[in-house]
Amino acid sequence: MIDTEAFKRMSYGLYVVCSGNQSNGNGYISNSVFQVTASPAQMAACCHKDNHTAGIIKETGSYSISVLHNEAETAIIDKFGYKSGADIDKLKGMNVEYGGTGIPILLNEAIAWIECKVVKPIDVGTHLIFIGEVLQTELLDETKPAMTYAEFKEKKQRTAPANAPTHIDEQESTDSEKSGDKYECQQCGFVYENDKEGTPFDELPDDWQCPVCGAPKSKFKAI
Ligand SMILES: Cc1cc2nc3c(=O)[nH]c(=O)nc-3n(C[C@H](O)[C@H](O)[C@H](O)COP(=O)(O)O)c2cc1C
Repeated sequence: MIDTEAFKRMSYGLYVVCSGNQSNGNGYISNSVFQVTASPAQMAACCHKDNHTAGIIKETGSYSISVLHNEAETAIIDKFGYKSGADIDKLKGMNVEYGGTGIPILLNEAIAWIECKVVKPIDVGTHLIFIGEVLQTELLDETKPAMTYAEFKEKKQRTAPANAPTHIDEQESTDSEKSGDKYECQQCGFVYENDKEGTPFDELPDDWQCPVCGAPKSKFKAI
């Protein structure tokens, strides 16, 4: 038996992983970033093959990890975690620095960053794990703690979208468990709660869109 509640007991951080160059840069939110060896210092970044950033990392051969602080703006997470660089220029207007390999490093809401050179991409089916050797790092703010995935879910009232390795399909809950009071966007995981929003979901107009990713009302399912 696999009880996905056990997965929810695991701890993670929250990062923006960027790659590319000055003319073609992009990034995505990841909670699945971790250090795999100390000497040499190596990181692993797990990236869905459909993420626009995956192709860019493969092409560029390097990536940066920006560590978000625990009060990071929701807007940053919404932009980098629920929208694709295939549709918008996510780095436009952002505070970006370029690493030694020429990759963009997002400084907004970051307390530290790490630049990595890919030494091994590992194909794990839906995702690629990019093992990266650390080239350089910088501590930007010693005062703020890093955001955890648990804090993100709690404070931002969001769940990870389908491309996140830790995504849990809440549709797996049985019909008898569905109260009809909460509706989840199947594109980004945003949960519309009737109690919180005031207007019952059923009464929203047909052209209503998800406030996070812009998906149509039809993309929502009762949870
Ligand atoms: C909290 C959170 C955690 C996420 N973790 C991952 C992750 O570890 N790996 C991944 O591939 N996508 C993850 N995602 C999803 C991507 O950030 C998302 O699909 C993004 O839109 C991809 O952007 P891109 O197409 O511009 O690369 C996560 C999203 C959120 C909100």
